[in-house]
Amino acid sequence: MNFLKYRPRRLRRTSKLRDLSAETSLAERDLVMPLFAADSGPQKAAIPAMPGQFRYSVSGLLRPIEKLLRAGVRAILLFGIPARKDERASQAYSDRGVVQKAIRAIKTRFPEMIVIADTCLCEYMSHGHCGLVRKIGKTYEILNDPTLELLAKTALSQAEAGADFVAPSDMMDGRVRAIRRALDRNGLSRTAILSYSAKYASVFYGPFREAAGSSPQFGDRKSYQMDMRNREEALREIGLDIREGADAVMIKPALAYLDVIHEAKQTFRFPIAAYNVSGEYAFVKWAAREGWDEKALVFEILTAIRRAGADWIITYHAADAAGWLKRQRAS
Ligand code: PBG
Repeated sequence: MNFLKYRPRRLRRTSKLRDLSAETSLAERDLVMPLFAADSGPQKAAIPAMPGQFRYSVSGLLRPIEKLLRAGVRAILLFGIPARKDERASQAYSDRGVVQKAIRAIKTRFPEMIVIADTCLCEYMSHGHCGLVRKIGKTYEILNDPTLELLAKTALSQAEAGADFVAPSDMMDGRVRAIRRALDRNGLSRTAILSYSAKYASVFYGPFREAAGSSPQFGDRKSYQMDMRNREEALREIGLDIREGADAVMIKPALAYLDVIHEAKQTFRFPIAAYNVSGEYAFVKWAAREGWDEKALVFEILTAIRRAGADWIITYHAADAAGWLKRQRAS
């Protein structure tokens, strides 16, 4: 190729030319909004660590969902905050659990909304870990295989309530296979699995843990979530989940892991979701409070995640971003 006469700026001259030559798109349909359903408390309660985000009661959820649909957001990721926690996470797989009630209410009113149920036990465990724990003297161990049974039960109850996707976020080995098997054996082969395949142990989850009341009461999650120094391991995790039956895979967090998103897309050519997590959201909110242009920041961040290779972005900015995108098209 002869680049001698090439002047890249010719295609940057006007906004129409820039739009014509843009390689990456960002649209409402790429966005998934996380929502918190609480089993007790008011219709809507602010989450101090995540300005602009709320915990909703089951009936309180319907209004924001209606707004999201009107804004063009087609999917939500649902988290539950139970009234009661125990050492077997029994509210995670109860037919009357908060997520199960919320899914039924949403699907009755808005069947077109795609509901992705977060499948994890930490919000429901008194100790806040994502699996069953055995204490050994002063230390403890997370029991992988016994946890799989509870995860499968949880996924099954969410699918029975009407979830389109179940999304295991616990990072136990073998959970996608266990969940797929449980769904298929119970006539729910149409329920899809979005696996949190490469979920790193990250400080960026801080605000979420405050929102969900899911901080581990002892220790940390480093024995099951991934070590941030590893990229090849993420590819192995993703490969395993695809083989075990995942329909889409997730990388989480997003911003410090764009290289992993990119390589995963290149390697697997599989639907990839990236989770723009609570800490990443809080950063933007702090910057906005200091006078930064929030809309420009959000667009740059979300577009970068798409450019890296993500098909879907799970983001607390989804509602705002969808509104901005719509206004931008109208102007
Ligand atoms: C639960 C879970 C967490 C997040 C999603 N599911 C927290 C954690 O692993 O401690 C984090 C989401 C966010 O920070 O926005 N396993």
